[in-house]
Amino acid sequence: MSDVRDPNMARITTKELADKFIAEQIAAIRAQVGDKKVLLALSGGVDSSVCAALLIKAIGNNLTCVHVNHGLLRKGEPEQVIKVFKEELGANLIYVDAVDRFLDALAGVSDPETKRKIIGKIFIDVFAEEARKLDGIAFLGQGTIYPDILESKGIKAHHNVGGLPEDLKFELVEPVKFLYKDEVRVVGEALGLPHNMVYRQPFPGPGLGVRCVGAITRDRLEAVREADAILREEFANAGLEGKVWQYFTIVPDFRSTGIKDNKRTFEWPVVIRAVNSVDATSATIEPIPYEILNKIVNRILNEVKGVNRVLYDLSPKPVATIEWE
Ligand code: XMP
Repeated sequence: MSDVRDPNMARITTKELADKFIAEQIAAIRAQVGDKKVLLALSGGVDSSVCAALLIKAIGNNLTCVHVNHGLLRKGEPEQVIKVFKEELGANLIYVDAVDRFLDALAGVSDPETKRKIIGKIFIDVFAEEARKLDGIAFLGQGTIYPDILESKGIKAHHNVGGLPEDLKFELVEPVKFLYKDEVRVVGEALGLPHNMVYRQPFPGPGLGVRCVGAITRDRLEAVREADAILREEFANAGLEGKVWQYFTIVPDFRSTGIKDNKRTFEWPVVIRAVNSVDATSATIEPIPYEILNKIVNRILNEVKGVNRVLYDLSPKPVATIEWE
């Protein structure tokens, strides 16, 4: 099958066009896989979620989804994947709690690229172990989208995941491979996926791992996760959700002094990052209104354990990158 999008293909901008695309893809998936079984790594990101929802419509329980919790997901994410896919869509979903395995392997590792490699490798190992437990898998579903093909010749490079072992190199089923991100979102909404899943901000494959700067510890990782949840909640309350490209928190691995209940503290800072971008190659700073910023700062200082200071990173890309490592 060609890897070039038909230049006559209409851009999917409306529910009508999305419904037409969905009907066509259901037929195409059925024609490709027949009554054989498909396996899919479901991260809960937009692309894999839309791909899974299409496959469920086309082949129901002949799709098996594997959701690997590496411990570096945002607050509430694994729960949402289970709720939406298992409970609401009735998917055949295997949930793998691999938190200890990832965090144990990452303990004491501070080099950012080594951290990424460990996360990518264990992800493949865990997924391959699950795949080998299953009988009769013939295809691998993958949420490849058109920019992935244009940028990296079909490999979802930004997932930092190497290839599967030889014995698991199944034929691919890639129903959204000719869609741009905005079209994947329109299709996702037409499929009835939750708005906050379909309009999620970009989230790196290594997740909060690159925002818990340096060697990841469980307590500092929890601080990143809690601060991130507060930031996202307050952005949603302020109507900024979906309007700002990417917003998140970072917890560096250094501490500074503070004072709480008349006692000296020595705790971490939380850094707030909120940027706008078109394609992540450059980014400008979102000018968060002071009242909102102030509310976020107060909530983080009151609610997040181990934190005594909040900073707002005002550095555009370039010179800074969006993530801290
Ligand atoms: P930087 O930090 O390079 O990030 O300005 C650009 C965009 O890429 C995301 N990012 C990643 N995504 N795996 C990913 O899947 C990664 O290792 C990774 N590092 C950065 C980042 O969130 C931003 O949207």
